[in-house]
Amino acid sequence: MERKTSFAEAVRKHIGITITGLIVLAGIVAWSEYRYYELKKVVAVKQTDFTNQIASFTASSTEMQNVLATLMSKIDTLNNESIALTGVVQNEKSKNEVIQEQVGKVASTIGSLDKLSKTDPELLQKYSKVFFLNEHYTPPNLATVSSDFSLNKETKYQVHANIANNLDNMLKTAKSQGMNLLVASAYRSYGTQGSLKANYKVTYGAGTANKFSAEQGYSEHQLGTTLDFTTPKIGGVLTGFDTTPEFTWLVNNAHTYGFVMSYPKGNAYYIYEPWHWRYVGVDLASRLKREGKNFYDLDQRVIDEYLLLVF
Ligand code: DAL
Ligand code: ZN
Repeated sequence: MERKTSFAEAVRKHIGITITGLIVLAGIVAWSEYRYYELKKVVAVKQTDFTNQIASFTASSTEMQNVLATLMSKIDTLNNESIALTGVVQNEKSKNEVIQEQVGKVASTIGSLDKLSKTDPELLQKYSKVFFLNEHYTPPNLATVSSDFSLNKETKYQVHANIANNLDNMLKTAKSQGMNLLVASAYRSYGTQGSLKANYKVTYGAGTANKFSAEQGYSEHQLGTTLDFTTPKIGGVLTGFDTTPEFTWLVNNAHTYGFVMSYPKGNAYYIYEPWHWRYVGVDLASRLKREGKNFYDLDQRVIDEYLLLVF
C-alpha cells in the first residue's frame, strides 16, 4: 500500500511535472509567437519606410534627371546660338574686310587722282613740232643746278624742282665713276627760246636752224625737265658728245634716273642730238630702255599712262 501510494504519487508527480513543463513550453511558444509577430510588424514598418524612401529617392532622381535634361537642352540651345553668333560675327568680319578693302581702293584711287590733278599733264607731251606750250607756261618750281656741274660757272642753270634730286644723284654717281658731266643748257623760257631761235636763224638761216632748234613754244627745254650735257673732254661744246665716255655712261645709266635721249639718230624731228636728255620718269625711261624704243616712238596714249609715275 505504501509502495502503491508511492507509485501513484510518483505518477502524479511525473504528470504534474510534465504538465508544468507543457505549460512552460506553451508559454515559451506563445511568447515566441508574440515576439515573432511584434518583429514582423516592426520589419513591415521598416520595409514600408524603406520602400517609401526608395520611391522618394526614385522620384527625386527622376526630377533631377528632368532638370538635367532641361539644362542639357539649354546648353545645346546656347551652343547652337553661339555657333550661329560666331557665324554672324565671321560674316560681319568678312563684310568689314571687304568694305575696308573697298575703302582702301577708293582712298588709293582718290590719292592717285589727287596726285594726277597736281601733276602737270604737259610733262609727258611730245613737243617736237607737235604740241605747243604757250608763253605763260613755266614749271611750278625751279631749282638751281649745282655750280659743280655747270658748264659756265656764272650761269644759273635751272630745272623743274621735282627732277633736281634725280639729276643731282645722276651727276654725282657719274662723277664718282670718273665721268665729268656738265650742264650746258637747262630750263629755257618761251622768250629765251624765241631769242635763241631768232639768233640761230640769223647765223645759220632758217632752214638749218629748224633742223636743230625748236620754235618758241615747241622746245622741251621750256618744261624744265630737259638738259643739254657736255664734258670738258670735248671743250664744253655739244658736237662730238657721243664720242665721249660720258655719253656712253648716260646711254647705260640715265634711264635709272628717269632720263632719255629725245633725238637719237634718224628721228623724225631734228638732227641727232646725243647731248639732249629729257626726264620722263624712271618707269617710262626703263621701259623704253628695255624695249629699245625712243620716247617719240610711243603713242601719246601709252605715254600718258606714266604720268602718275613720273615723279
Ligand atoms: N634742240 C632742241 C630741238 C630744242 O631746241 O629744243
Ligand atoms: Zn637741248
